[in-house]
Amino acid sequence: MSQIDTPDSITLIRPDDWHLHLRDGATLASVLPHSARQFGRAIVMPNLKPPVTTVAAAEGYRSRILAALPQGMSFEPLMTLYLTNNTPPDEIRRAVDSGFVYGVKLYPAGATTNSDAGVTDIANCYKTLEVMQELDLPLLVHGEVTDPDVDVFDREAVFIERVMRPLRKSFPELKVVFEHITTRHAAEYVAEAEGPIAATITAHHLLYNRNEIFKGGIRPHYYCLPILKREEHRLALVTAATSGDERFFLGTDSAPHAQGAKEAACGCAGCYTALHAMELYAEAFERAGALDKLEAFSSLNGPAFYGVEPNADTITLKREEWTLPATLPLGDQEVVPLNAGETIHWKMV
Ligand code: DOR
Ligand code: ZN
Repeated sequence: MSQIDTPDSITLIRPDDWHLHLRDGATLASVLPHSARQFGRAIVMPNLKPPVTTVAAAEGYRSRILAALPQGMSFEPLMTLYLTNNTPPDEIRRAVDSGFVYGVKLYPAGATTNSDAGVTDIANCYKTLEVMQELDLPLLVHGEVTDPDVDVFDREAVFIERVMRPLRKSFPELKVVFEHITTRHAAEYVAEAEGPIAATITAHHLLYNRNEIFKGGIRPHYYCLPILKREEHRLALVTAATSGDERFFLGTDSAPHAQGAKEAACGCAGCYTALHAMELYAEAFERAGALDKLEAFSSLNGPAFYGVEPNADTITLKREEWTLPATLPLGDQEVVPLNAGETIHWKMV
């Protein structure tokens, strides 16, 4: 069990990141050490260009991740496949046989970064979902509708009604992770739904509401998808994360984009938090008076859902002020971390 050693120090079973973007090539080499320092494992998102749609592609990607890991660091990438309208059911059997694929990601086509090859209608995937249900391979869901008539702030709530409920009615035994939930609607839906469902929650959605995007001007480093919502939704996420309910667990959605791609006329979605994710979660849990619930959320609930053992080692966070760098190297470019130049109050030692 976690130990709150003193009010100024907390030791936890090493956490895992159940939703992470590592990219590829030089970017991968830049960001991987940040995640590997904090987390034992991560569910690695497949939205590369081209997307990771096959077990063979996932195997290659996994090898590149392991090759990019600095000497002396240990980290296990848990691979995912990118679901398309045409993912063959046999690919699911190969995925389960591989031993290294832990889920299949549903991106509604056009919902977010590199989702063009995603699913246009979930009905196209029913044969494949049947096999996933049969073999217990989780479906990881980016839960937003893409209908341009739906307000961008309502896309998650509408997704629950239009897609999630019918889908889970058709596949009641399918394991589903509702990724990076951002609304009261999703938190309540997951807490109350029947059957095998869970949700990941990012640190930034626990700490910020949508005002942060517009404070004193437009601030692109706070732009991600699903977008930050109103305060009432942030509060519902904090309640869910700190409730002790096993269905909620950590997923940073750390998503590096080069500075120029964010600070642009049409900037990319994604917040880079891999450097200081646990510090941000500690801040959010402390503000809620729930530091004693941080370990279950970060280190126990995810492994229980995915059917793996918790990590064997621990990490320690200390109360210590430090200032985030303005930028970090990202291949031959730079990434601006969330909270760049700000002082935060916890530090992993
Ligand atoms: O903000 C986001 N960035 N949301 C996503 O769903 C994708 C991610 C990315 O890959 O950059
Ligand atoms: Zn993501």
